[in-house]
Amino acid sequence: MKLLVIGGGGREHALAWKLSLSPRVHKVFVAPGNAGTALERKLENVPITLIPELVEFAKKEHIAITIVGPEIPLAAGIVDAFQAADLKIFGPTQQAAQLETSKIFAKEFMQRHHIPTATYASFTDPVLAHQYIDQKSAPLVVKADGLAAGKGVVVAQTNEQAHSAVNAILVEKNLGSAGSEIVIEEFLQGIEVSFIVMTDGQHILPLATSQDHKRLYDGESGPNTGGMGAYSPAPFISPSLHAKIIRDIIHPVITGMKQEGISYSGFLYAGLMITAENHAKVLEFNCRLGDPETQPIMLRLKSDLLTLVEHAVNGTLDKVDVEWDRRAALGVVMAARGYPENPRKNDVIHGLSNLIIEQNNTDSFHVFHSGTAMGGDGGKEFTTTGGRVLCITALGESIKIAQQNAYKLIDSISFNNYQVRRDIGYQGINFYRK
Ligand code: AMP
Ligand code: GLY
Repeated sequence: MKLLVIGGGGREHALAWKLSLSPRVHKVFVAPGNAGTALERKLENVPITLIPELVEFAKKEHIAITIVGPEIPLAAGIVDAFQAADLKIFGPTQQAAQLETSKIFAKEFMQRHHIPTATYASFTDPVLAHQYIDQKSAPLVVKADGLAAGKGVVVAQTNEQAHSAVNAILVEKNLGSAGSEIVIEEFLQGIEVSFIVMTDGQHILPLATSQDHKRLYDGESGPNTGGMGAYSPAPFISPSLHAKIIRDIIHPVITGMKQEGISYSGFLYAGLMITAENHAKVLEFNCRLGDPETQPIMLRLKSDLLTLVEHAVNGTLDKVDVEWDRRAALGVVMAARGYPENPRKNDVIHGLSNLIIEQNNTDSFHVFHSGTAMGGDGGKEFTTTGGRVLCITALGESIKIAQQNAYKLIDSISFNNYQVRRDIGYQGINFYRK
C-alpha cells in the first residue's frame, strides 16, 4: 500500500516513519519532506506543495490514504479537494478547521456548547477594545482571530501591553487580515497540557497525553516559539481528569460540530490549562497534531498507525484499541540561532550519521528532522534550513530517564550556535518529586 503525508517538519517525519513501520505499507511519500525523511527506509520525498498537484499525484500513484500534518493546507481546503476527487484523506475540511483558523469561531462555538474556556469578548473596533481593557484590567490575553504563525497571541501582564497589542493588531494591522478581528480573554493560570485525539466525526480515540514547552528559554522565559520540546505522558492528567476532559470538552466538540452540520474528522488538539482546582479549560484548538508533541507520542505508539488511520477514515474508530509503550518519551528541539525571529541557515550539522545507523537498530530513540537539507560537500552533508532543525526523541523508564537519554544524544550532535532548552520535562519530573 502507498501513503502520502503532507508537510515537511518533525511532526511529519514522525508520522511518516511510524506509518512506514506497518508491514502493509510499502511506500510513504512525503510532500515536501526534509533531509530526514529522504533517508528513511520506505519513505520518499516529493517536491510538491500545491493542492491541485497533490491531487493529481495521489491519483497517479494510487495513494490509499493521505494524512495531513500542518494547518495551512487544511485551512486552504486540501481535504475538500481530495474528497471531491474521491481520494481518501485524513483531516478536517476547511469549514471544520475553523476551530483552529478562527479564534472567534472557536470561542463562540465553545460558548454555544458550554465548553469550559477563558471568558472573553471580541472586537473589530479598537476604541471598544481599549475600553474593555480598562474595565477588566491586566493580566489579559489578546489574540488575533486568524492564523498568524504563532505571532497572534499576546499575554499582557499590564494594561499598557494589552493596549499596545490592540494597536499593533487592529490599528497598525501588522498581522494583515488575520488581525482584522481580535479576542481579548481572561488570563488563565495553571499547567498547560496538550490533549490530542483522533476522531472519525463520531467516535473518539484519545492519543497519549503530552506537554509542550512553547517559550524559547529555560523556565518559560523568552519569546513564544512553535515548541522547543515535548514529552509524554503528562502526569498532571489523572485518569479521572482524563475522563472529565473527554466528557466535558472533546465529546461536546465532536457532537457539537456534527449538530451544526460541520462534521469534524481528523486529529483534534485541545491546548488545555489545568487550573489549581484541577479543572481543565481550553486555551485553543488545533485541527492537527502538535509539533513537537507528535514526536514523543509516535515513539510511544505501539499499535499500527495505518490501522488507526484506516478506522478513522472509514468511521469505525470505536472498533480499534490503541497500545502505548509504558515508558515515557521526551523530545528536545535543536533550533537555529536567531529562531524564532530571524533564524540562520546553511550550517553543517555534525554527528548525525552515526546516530542514523544506531537508531535503525533500536526502538529507544529517533532523531526527527525539520529544518534540514542535504548540502555542503557536494550535497553529502546535513545542513540547516532554519527554524527548528531537529527533535531528538528518546524513551526512558521515567520522564527523568527519557530526559537524560535525549540530552546524552544531543551532546553528540552540533551545528553553529544552535539553541536548545536544557529543562524539557521539568514539570513532569517535579510532579513525581512532590
Ligand atoms: P494559543 O495560540 O491560543 O495557544 O496561545 C499561545 C500561548 O499563549 C498558549 O500556549 C499559552 O501559553 C498562552 N495563552 C493563550 N491563552 C491564554 C490564556 N487565556 N491564559 C493564559 N495563557 C494563555
Ligand atoms: N506545539 C504546539 C503546536 O503544535 O501548536
